[in-house]
Amino acid sequence: ASEITPLIAGNWKMNGLSAQLAEFQLLGEKLATLKDRRAMVAICPPATLLAAMSEKGAVNGIATGGQDCHASPSGAHTGDISALMLKDAGAQFAIVGHSERRADHGETDAQVREKAQAAIAAGLTPIICVGETRAEREAGQADSVVATQLAGSVPDAAAANEVVIAYEPVWAIGTGLTPTNADIAQMHDGIRKLLVERFGGRGETIRILYGGSLKPANAKEILAVENVNGGLVGGASLLANDFFAIISAA
Ligand code: G3P
Repeated sequence: ASEITPLIAGNWKMNGLSAQLAEFQLLGEKLATLKDRRAMVAICPPATLLAAMSEKGAVNGIATGGQDCHASPSGAHTGDISALMLKDAGAQFAIVGHSERRADHGETDAQVREKAQAAIAAGLTPIICVGETRAEREAGQADSVVATQLAGSVPDAAAANEVVIAYEPVWAIGTGLTPTNADIAQMHDGIRKLLVERFGGRGETIRILYGGSLKPANAKEILAVENVNGGLVGGASLLANDFFAIISAA
């Protein structure tokens, strides 16, 4: 797994007005001082900032992504955004199936798979999120829940196109709680096995990100866990200094 270039992706969620572009600019300046940056860096801002950020990011070596996309390329879907629109605004990635969308919008594995498929069709790399709730972990169902989500949410097109998996235990998101390194290792190892079972050698090359309360204080040890190929960072990605520290740890 160590041959895989790590990806550190920030998910700004529903945060960020144009004033925050200054923070993004600061991140770019700090990154320019990092001599031997190993990680690829991306930020997924709200759609309103995507075009401006993609333009600045192109200069600073920061990729951008959307936080969701519709399964259709265009049409009568008021308020939705298509993968082609994200691509048109300069995005390289699209997060799909984040647990907040699964919870707030009732997105199912089948819908997430269609969105991932649409992202691929538009030339984007989908970041497909999976992860168990606290109750599911306590019931000993974490592995089976994640396996089911993975089987249902990852499109067959992953056999021939780049996709990223993000393991985000729901109970670790925005709570300051994280699984033990051993639990992260076990889950990522299990995900790797399932990807290899389904996609053969290609499954070895798919990035598996960890997400959930990743911060400067725990980034180094979590990002060093076997089969953790980077991170999906929420809260800490909003602050240039914290996000920079996580990138430096990768
Ligand atoms: O997508 C990233 C996210 O859900 C993790 O959020 O704030 O716990 O880093 P946070």
